[in-house]
Amino acid sequence: MNKLITPNDIDNKTVLELFERAEEFLTGTNSTVGQDKLLINIFFENSTRTRSSFEVAAKRIGMNITNLDVATSSTSKGETLFDTAANLDAMGPSIIVVRHKSSGVPGLLSNYTKASIVNGGDGAHAHPTQALLDLFTIKQYVKELEGKTIAIVGDVANSRVANSNMQLLPRFGLKVIVCAPPHFMPKTDLEKTHSLKDAVEKSDIIMCLRTQTERHKTHNYASLKDYAKDYCLTKEVVGDKDILALHPGPVNRNIDISDDFLADSRCKVLEQVQNGVAIRMAVLEKILKNQK
Ligand code: CP
Repeated sequence: MNKLITPNDIDNKTVLELFERAEEFLTGTNSTVGQDKLLINIFFENSTRTRSSFEVAAKRIGMNITNLDVATSSTSKGETLFDTAANLDAMGPSIIVVRHKSSGVPGLLSNYTKASIVNGGDGAHAHPTQALLDLFTIKQYVKELEGKTIAIVGDVANSRVANSNMQLLPRFGLKVIVCAPPHFMPKTDLEKTHSLKDAVEKSDIIMCLRTQTERHKTHNYASLKDYAKDYCLTKEVVGDKDILALHPGPVNRNIDISDDFLADSRCKVLEQVQNGVAIRMAVLEKILKNQK
């Protein structure tokens, strides 16, 4: 692995190796593999979790880190994306993490840099480290994945998180069903439903998504409140079912998941964030070791 653009850049054996290493990191194992190595974060879209998670992960394995402040960078003076990447690459980073609103940008940039590119999320295309941390979190609670079902609920058509999970999870035996209103339903051969109640009934795991209003070209729904009436995960909808609930964040409270269910022990949103640091430590370490 010398870049990570989509989950298909890593085979299952490597995924499981990363998970073993992430477990070790969670139990306090250290790594100094990143000493004297530089990671640059270039985030052209906002981020709370992914950017800081890569920063914390890089520091924990000894890397130096620079965050390009895109708002005050020379992109506003007309510098192209490729020149920006080439100039940052000339500073000798080992790894550049890129987030961009356009699908395909991290993959394209990987052809122009000596540094390994890690995709921090591109448009509705891919978010590979999110899918890795999601699967890792599922495996912590669901010991046997084969034969289990996960429902991905909400604005699936516009979600890079959904896309990457739909690629990764079936490789480990999970059946994925998609639950969305017609305007958020992706073109897919996976089982589909428009009913949240139906999705909950059929599933062992439920992954809620944020409604990606920034990617909607037209507003073909009345309001988020109307959407929430049908698709917000609540204690009332779930009842006492033994289910694991995930959300990649940021959560729109009472639109994607209700306040009461966010506080429920079946909801693992903050565990996902904690696991994300360990997974990213494992990913960065693996890439650095492959560069040697
Ligand atoms: N899960 C996720 O990508 O969150 P951020 O947008 O805050 O990075």
